[in-house]
Amino acid sequence: MRRPLIAGNWKMNGSTALVKAFGEAFSAAKLPASVDVVVIPPFPYLEAARQAFNDTPLKLGAQTLNPQHSGAHTGEVSGGMLQEFGVEYVLVGHSERRQLYRENDEQVFDRLMAALASGLTPILCVGETLEERDADRTMEVVLRQVGYVMARLETAHRTKVIIAYEPVWAIGTGRTATPEQAQEVMAGIRAYQASFDIALAEQLKLLYGGSMNANNAAELLAQPDIDGGLVGGASLKTDDFYAICQSAG
Ligand code: 13P
Repeated sequence: MRRPLIAGNWKMNGSTALVKAFGEAFSAAKLPASVDVVVIPPFPYLEAARQAFNDTPLKLGAQTLNPQHSGAHTGEVSGGMLQEFGVEYVLVGHSERRQLYRENDEQVFDRLMAALASGLTPILCVGETLEERDADRTMEVVLRQVGYVMARLETAHRTKVIIAYEPVWAIGTGRTATPEQAQEVMAGIRAYQASFDIALAEQLKLLYGGSMNANNAAELLAQPDIDGGLVGGASLKTDDFYAICQSAG
């Protein structure tokens, strides 16, 4: 049985006030014990979040990391540093990083390896653009992104990776993939993983991301291959995020 996970990616949003609001809302609220909930704020808020979430079940994630352990990399943050701040999860290969900062599959792989080396759980983000979907290239693109990483990993590492399917055209657009569209791709990712190891494919945790909100979460999460969500905009409001977590329970 795969344990559901809901992760809130704040992107370059939030404030100390929002961190505090989350700490207060979620210490009072009763989250379903069967769900893991992760909040992923920008770097400067990690320490405040660690303190504010102390009495809550909320876990901490980071939005990216540098592949190197330390050194002359101005502006970058390493996995070891994140780990020291209580971070347990880290996003790699988010489409905004791929598009705006030109991260390619090789760089995504290097970051994922750095996450594993620091004991962090990588959430590998994959997804097609609208152009690619319209050209019927969705599966090809998604499996290239997944395959580039998975084919290079040892089995022991493969079990530690979470994959988030985020169709680029659904991110921040209010246009969610239909549950059927999401399920189709996610079943394809699981089938690909089964080509390495069937038991491993059964364990693989798959998250859907792209305009997930309190109204559509339950329907998406009801799909057999969707084990959770990677939430952007709706993770900035305590009530909405709480409602999404409830629908995963
Ligand atoms: P939205 O939920 O705002 O569409 O963002 C999804 C996302 O990119 C999460 O990583």
